[in-house]
Amino acid sequence: MAFTIAIDGPAAAGKGTIGRALAAHFGFAHLDTGLLYRATGRRTLDGLDPVEAAQTLRAEDLDADDLRTPDVSQAASRVAAIPEVRQALLDFQRAFARRAGGAVLDGRDIGTVICPEAEVKLFVTATDAERARRRHKEMVETGHAVTLEEVAQDLRDRDARDSARAEAPLRAAEDALMLDTSEMTITEAIAAAVARVEALRA
Ligand code: C5P
Repeated sequence: MAFTIAIDGPAAAGKGTIGRALAAHFGFAHLDTGLLYRATGRRTLDGLDPVEAAQTLRAEDLDADDLRTPDVSQAASRVAAIPEVRQALLDFQRAFARRAGGAVLDGRDIGTVICPEAEVKLFVTATDAERARRRHKEMVETGHAVTLEEVAQDLRDRDARDSARAEAPLRAAEDALMLDTSEMTITEAIAAAVARVEALRA
């Protein structure tokens, strides 16, 4: 039976952490759709045309170890504004969303474009300062030499571009549940998300 949890929200709001935890809790498969755009953007930095990069994306491209760098983040957000790139990645995401056994997808347009029929939609947010603080900590812990201001600027640029684009802009679906994690620990945010899904499954 298909059961889809769609998680959207701005960069570094906690979507990935919550998505992975929900998938583990309910025994569902999880797809971080940002990785598809990051891997596509990564290939354009090697000189590939963005549409061709998306159309010929391979599973191993998702394993590249530099997909979280600021350069790749910006490249991802640039290719994500190209309608043909989004189109090339659509079928894979839709099939994943409706696979048997349940799926959790996180991204920007899951509840609005990829799976408007999702049984549960969450829109995860946090203040700009809190998102920058969390992402900076994560980057430093994984060995990236970036300043807090560089991270904050990257998030501002991407959120502005992702929200303003014509095709599948970042926005909450009308029937999405809003989850502001600014004042929550990771454990509290996960517990809140699990409670919301359980309330809707009952
Ligand atoms: O989620 P993450 O920050 O890894 O996404 C990287 C970029 O990919 C975003 O800034 C956005 O431009 C793009 N993206 C998108 N639609 C999605 C997921 C990510 O446009 N569903």
